[in-house]
Amino acid sequence: MDGAFEVLARDPASGARAGRLHTAHGVVETPAFMPVGTQASVKTLSSEELEELGASMILGNTYHLYLRPGAGRVAELGGLHRFMAWSGSILTDSGGFQVLSLTALRRVDEEGVTFRSHLDGSTHRLTPEGVVHLQELLGSDVAMVLDECPPYPSPPEEVEASLRRTERWAEIALASHRRDDQLLFGIVQGGMEAGVRRRAARALGKLEFDGYGIGGLSIGEPKETMYRMLEASVPELPPARPRYLMGVGSPDALVEGVARGIDLFDSVLPTRVARHGTVLTRRGPVTVRNARYASDERPLDPSCDCRVCRRYSRAYVRHLLNAGEILGLRLCSYHNLHVLLRLMEEVRAAIRQGTFAEVRRAAAALFPRRQE
Ligand code: GUN
Ligand code: ZN
Repeated sequence: MDGAFEVLARDPASGARAGRLHTAHGVVETPAFMPVGTQASVKTLSSEELEELGASMILGNTYHLYLRPGAGRVAELGGLHRFMAWSGSILTDSGGFQVLSLTALRRVDEEGVTFRSHLDGSTHRLTPEGVVHLQELLGSDVAMVLDECPPYPSPPEEVEASLRRTERWAEIALASHRRDDQLLFGIVQGGMEAGVRRRAARALGKLEFDGYGIGGLSIGEPKETMYRMLEASVPELPPARPRYLMGVGSPDALVEGVARGIDLFDSVLPTRVARHGTVLTRRGPVTVRNARYASDERPLDPSCDCRVCRRYSRAYVRHLLNAGEILGLRLCSYHNLHVLLRLMEEVRAAIRQGTFAEVRRAAAALFPRRQE
């Protein structure tokens, strides 16, 4: 697809930009946060709730959907959008990262990854071309190439060998992609050395991808290291194409990523911490499960205007979580996504109005703690 991305405004004092990504299912205003719907569901929330929250693009995982219910089954049922009754945009991750993080038994060779299913132990193989085909069957709006994310820390020789494989896989993926109603993004890897990242981004940027993921970050390295890796790689990527920082979703890292030129983010953070009874607030994370909130009649975040905060108290939500009521998980998940989606809305407006520096300063003060 040509001209899928347009940059509408740039912040003069940082790399931040506001833009629009046009997909087969609509327009995604960027910078955007994508809630994660690993198995065709953003955990605990329905598609209508995601609409109500104003999410424009969500993420699905090829690895999970391939194993269950199967990409062919999803295709038979009209594709992922129809299957989950979601009419917004969908990006699917390629599965490489999930194979490496979820499966104990796996073998990476030059042509792909062989692994045992985390569900039933059966043996499967993902290849760069196979993963493109699976995502064509799923019918996502944005497909990601198969990549390899070396663990942190890794010896330089291993990072190099892994990067060469990822680079070859990117070319195979590009050559095998057929659907012209689906965008294909490459993924920059390269470990935690600025020079290697810069080279990786420059090489990938020469390939005609519709956008570029930046992977292999937020895997245990200090945040400052992650920011340095962004500073090394982003300037090497084509400015007219969207950049997607994979797996990052703490409020401070979203704003700092935007300041370094990132347009898209995804993370399980808001929904995962919600299920552990933590809510994001403008004063840092609150563990609402704690006994100190047992009689607290205030909303989860007194400065939030979401449907949950307008109606329910911390004391009630805490009780639900303690009593094992599913509603507690739902309310916290809804609120946390609201916080991140509104933050990104604020960031977009600020970039357009020339006030991003203020929002950046305010975000650093308002979301003070490490949350990743
Ligand atoms: N999600 C978070 N990090 C990564 C990564 O490095 N690669 C892929 N494919 N997905 C990710
Ligand atoms: Zn709220």
